[in-house]
Amino acid sequence: MAERNIFFKKGQNNQMAELFRILRTNIYFMGKKKNRVVVVTSTIPGEGKSTVASNYAMSVAIGKEKVLLIDCDIRKPRAHSSFGIQINHGMGEVLSGEKKIDEVILKGVEKNLDILPSKHMDQNVSELFLGDRMRNILEKLRKKYDLIVLDTPPLMVVTDALILSQYGDGVLYVCGYDMVTKQEMNQAKKMLDSAGVTLYGVIVNRINKDGYSHGNYGYYNYKYKDYQDYFNGDKQ
Ligand SMILES: Nc1ncnc2c1ncn2[C@@H]1O[C@H](COP(=O)(O)OP(=O)(O)OP(=O)(O)O)[C@@H](O)[C@H]1O
Ligand SMILES: [Mg+2]
Repeated sequence: MAERNIFFKKGQNNQMAELFRILRTNIYFMGKKKNRVVVVTSTIPGEGKSTVASNYAMSVAIGKEKVLLIDCDIRKPRAHSSFGIQINHGMGEVLSGEKKIDEVILKGVEKNLDILPSKHMDQNVSELFLGDRMRNILEKLRKKYDLIVLDTPPLMVVTDALILSQYGDGVLYVCGYDMVTKQEMNQAKKMLDSAGVTLYGVIVNRINKDGYSHGNYGYYNYKYKDYQDYFNGDKQ
């Protein structure tokens, strides 16, 4: 699988990296600042959860804090491939007790960044997240990291993100521009509200350079167009 858009890693798309730095700062000033667990989710597939989760994790790791990215999307795992890594074991085996965390965790994927990857599993895996096991794993890991980012499946498809939101401190809600209806968003918001989660922010993603509609290759923030001139100015 092709490597995804890690804007920090490739040293390009400076405007994208800067937008993630702004996101990092905004979240930093919300609530607790250490040992935080942030859940990244969206309404439907393909809105950019994995892209946002890995870039947010990178933005904090670059700022010298110790970060763990956990791929909790066991049906569509992406975290390891985002960083061009092949894996033999995953989160599912840790949850089922077949493997220990230390046997699965990928240390130092980037400076200050570890990844707990997932290997694809077909069966219904929501049960794996229920109960004390996942909660206990997270509480243990929390002590070792300044930030843990959970990449999760979409809210409308499976219940995993809502379960995981109960173990985390807050949710980053990704919204692919023009991809979901107002009704779907309202439904997702109701789900998050009834689960009592803290909403750290809504990220409007997949906006093209003109800032109006999403294309095959989207961009991270509706502010992109406004910032474009600023960054072009750097090159002059
Ligand atoms: N801001 C962005 N800039 C460029 N490409 C993006 C951006 N966000 C997402 N994409 C691209 O859109 C596609 C879907 O993104 P991604 O895999 O992050 O979504 P997802 O919500 O995690 O999807 P899934 O629900 O399937 O897990 C990918 O090909 C990704 O590279
Ligand atoms: Mg994903």
